[in-house]
Amino acid sequence: MKVLLAGGAGYIGSHTALTLTEAGHEVIIVDNYDNSCEEAILRVEELVGKKIKHYEADVKDTVTLDKIFKENDIDCVIHFAGLKAVGESVVKPIEYYRNNIDTTLSLLETMRANDVHNFVFSSSATVYGAENDSPLYETMKKGTCTNPYGWTKWMMEQILTDAAHADDKLSVVLLRYFNPIGAHESGRIGEDPTGIPNNLMPYVTQTAVGIRDHLTIFGGDYDTPDGTCQRDYIHVMDLADGHVKAVEYAATRKGVDIINLGTGTPYSVLDIVHAFEKANNLKLKYEIGPRRAGDLAVCYSNADKAKEVLGWEAKRNLEDMCRDSWNWQKNNPNGYKK
Ligand code: NAD
Ligand code: WQD
Repeated sequence: MKVLLAGGAGYIGSHTALTLTEAGHEVIIVDNYDNSCEEAILRVEELVGKKIKHYEADVKDTVTLDKIFKENDIDCVIHFAGLKAVGESVVKPIEYYRNNIDTTLSLLETMRANDVHNFVFSSSATVYGAENDSPLYETMKKGTCTNPYGWTKWMMEQILTDAAHADDKLSVVLLRYFNPIGAHESGRIGEDPTGIPNNLMPYVTQTAVGIRDHLTIFGGDYDTPDGTCQRDYIHVMDLADGHVKAVEYAATRKGVDIINLGTGTPYSVLDIVHAFEKANNLKLKYEIGPRRAGDLAVCYSNADKAKEVLGWEAKRNLEDMCRDSWNWQKNNPNGYKK
């Protein structure tokens, strides 16, 4: 299949571009490099040993998007092209709503105009909100989000659901990711956050490489076995494999379906610290600090549906995630910047 990856130069998109190509699909990337760079695509090309067609463009620009659709006989779209920093979304809600909602509408309109009917969407566990207890099932009612980023995902899920109800040719697969970490085992592509990382694993790897002095664990007094928050960390290569299955699944059906992509196993922040130290034979400087506003104590998936519907389950363990995250960081201390 020919698959358009909107936001395909980013962290999850670049790993998915690699995996889709290796699975025999043809990938076309459109990205404005707002939070990424062309170098990531060039490295995917190096790893797969072939060229990947890519366009530098804003997905909100429907004129350019239409040209890209006309130049390529696209079968399926995966929409990764979002702004994703939770804290920034509180400060810049208008930018977040504009970018995340508009990119979705542009893609839907352009797909309809070009007779493309398969859509896979990067949603997030954040849409379950605080009302639902883990393990989180796709059948649960969506919850109340605590920040504009989360609401954009919530709203985009609604827009895509309504669009699929109104158009019986449309197939929409909403993938709710849990906490992606890790990198391709080569260490050539990985997560390259701008500025001070918000997420745990890049903060851990930047501490280990000496960019940050120490990790602050946000809260040690939660109602969990060791007092630190638990999450469902998933290797980005497993997540990428899940997209290959989702693209193939989208082509076999119509309507909207929701699928969690997680492992179903919760790990605490201290579990991550200790697993990272053990996998990489190093010591990490850390301290326990105050809680971070908005954090849930526990968040993990029930991962049964992905197995039943997609025939997919995560294969890589926590040691793999810690080893591959570190392999990427130590080989690229400044990310894609030389
Ligand atoms: P990322 O920032 O690395 O990738 C997003 C890509 O989209 C970037 O390359 C960025 O330049 C591009 N982009 C943004 N707006 C664009 C626009 N208007 N036009 C063209 N390109 C645009 O993020 P990621 O971690 O790879 O996440 C991919 C998707 O998955 C996002 O939608 C994110 O919200 C979602 N998601 C991520 C996580 C996570 O923890 N990484 C968890 C759940 C969901
Ligand atoms: C994980 C754990 C922190 C940094 C966020 C978004 C979510 C999704 C994934 C996109 C938490 C703790 C972190 C640090 C720490 N993204 N932590 N010190 O909060 O589960 O989810 O990213 O959809 O929507 O909210 O991930 O990586 O920020 O935090 O102790 O310096 O690590 O408190 O328990 P989170 P995270």
